[in-house]
Amino acid sequence: MSDLSALVELIEQGAPGEALGAFPLPKSYQAAVVRRDEQAMFEGMASADKDPRRSLHVQEVALPELAPDEAVVAVMASSINFNTVWSAIFEPLPTFGFLDRLGRESVWGRRHVVDHHQVGSDAAGVVVRAGSAVRGWKPGDRVVVHCNHVDDQDPSAHDDSMLAGNQRIWGFETNFGGLAELAVVKANQLLAKPAHLTWEEAGVNALCNSTAYRMLVSRNGAAMKQGDVVFIWGATGGLGGYATQYVLHGGGIPVGVVSSPEKVKLLQDLGCEAVLDRAERGYRFWRDEHTQDETEWRRLGGDVRALVGEDPHIVFEHPGRQTMGASVFLARKGGVIVTCAATSGHRIEYDNRHLWMKLKTIRSSHFANYKEAFEANRLIRLGRIQPILSATFPLDEVGEAAAQVHQNRHEGKIGVRCLAPRDGLGITDPAFREQVGEDRITLFRRHA
Ligand SMILES: NC(=O)c1ccc[n+]([C@@H]2O[C@H](COP(=O)([O-])OP(=O)(O)OC[C@H]3O[C@@H](n4cnc5c(N)ncnc54)[C@H](OP(=O)(O)O)[C@@H]3O)[C@@H](O)[C@H]2O)c1
Repeated sequence: MSDLSALVELIEQGAPGEALGAFPLPKSYQAAVVRRDEQAMFEGMASADKDPRRSLHVQEVALPELAPDEAVVAVMASSINFNTVWSAIFEPLPTFGFLDRLGRESVWGRRHVVDHHQVGSDAAGVVVRAGSAVRGWKPGDRVVVHCNHVDDQDPSAHDDSMLAGNQRIWGFETNFGGLAELAVVKANQLLAKPAHLTWEEAGVNALCNSTAYRMLVSRNGAAMKQGDVVFIWGATGGLGGYATQYVLHGGGIPVGVVSSPEKVKLLQDLGCEAVLDRAERGYRFWRDEHTQDETEWRRLGGDVRALVGEDPHIVFEHPGRQTMGASVFLARKGGVIVTCAATSGHRIEYDNRHLWMKLKTIRSSHFANYKEAFEANRLIRLGRIQPILSATFPLDEVGEAAAQVHQNRHEGKIGVRCLAPRDGLGITDPAFREQVGEDRITLFRRHA
């Protein structure tokens, strides 16, 4: 078994980078994985019954050789993203197919093809090794990791790296992800850790925060402007908790949808005045499995107008099949429906007449390029956008943490302590934390 407690001690003592770079890394370490020989374990079951507690294992895995453009990060904390739920329930496809494809790409890609998949697409930690081609990062740097895994060899990557042919999501379409004691990342995934945050607060942001930034703020997404009404599904969820903040911070008018009185209160405390409780309102957009009910779309539209007096310029969409018909209807003439996901089903149906006659646009979005991830992280570092950490689990309980997200029992983001022995460590700028305000930083946590 690996024992990295001496490394953690050095990190907590603020030991110089040379000491961390010289620390002998073990041949193996603990990681949360799904196993290739279990990828059929849930066949024939309904999605809701597939239990991540059965499929996610914490086990010893081998540390791979480091490619020249990579770094090894000692992961202090990570988070549960919905893609870890997808990996753990082997939907829509087992992720081993992604790893096998990556394995055919290059010698370095081949390292990813093993019998386990180390999952996780967020991390906060410390660089402990840097490959020979890495510029700008060195052992000792405190970092967070964004999950756009891409190199610069495809011409498309030089406009928007999300368009590159070999763009992948680290820890989902690649191995060596963040839910582990050590992770292997490309240097172009590294961002400076916000100094005023704990490890677990810093480790939950990059994936959802960057995605929400691209969807709403970036010109690659909806490019929200001041005064825009933005309708947000799941407004206290992983994506929605950041989306709501971007709308408020950018001078827009959020209309947030949630599904309980507790979440209504949380959203109001976040500063969102126009809130709909979809459970209380009882919307039934589908009469049966095949038929949508336009009168329910109209009822929702009426509720939005009653709250803010007008229709949304932007609809922030991710639930997919259950809501897309309503989302397309809801946007105002010329409005944008920006989508990055389909949690409730990816075969989408909407009434095209509402789209073309009202000149609306459906805009697709997927994670974020390095520049967008950098800008999103910068806003966290500046204390303008807050982490939405609501709870933490130790790495050993990663299955339970993923089950909570799968069953929608969480708010905001769930953090996972990997090497961090307890919550509350990792703050190096307490004065700035005080300036930003403990209350704002810990809103989701206190609420949970
Ligand atoms: N393409 C990308 O780059 C990208 C990035 C991040 C996430 N995603 C995807 O986006 C989706 C959401 O991710 P997340 O991190 O925000 O997940 P999350 O933390 O589970 O939050 C999603 C929220 O959506 C709401 N919701 C779920 N099902 C719904 C339904 N049928 N109708 C209306 N609302 C529903 C729930 O809120 P209430 O119950 O309170 O309404 C839920 O809390 C996932 O499928 C994920 O894989 C994609």
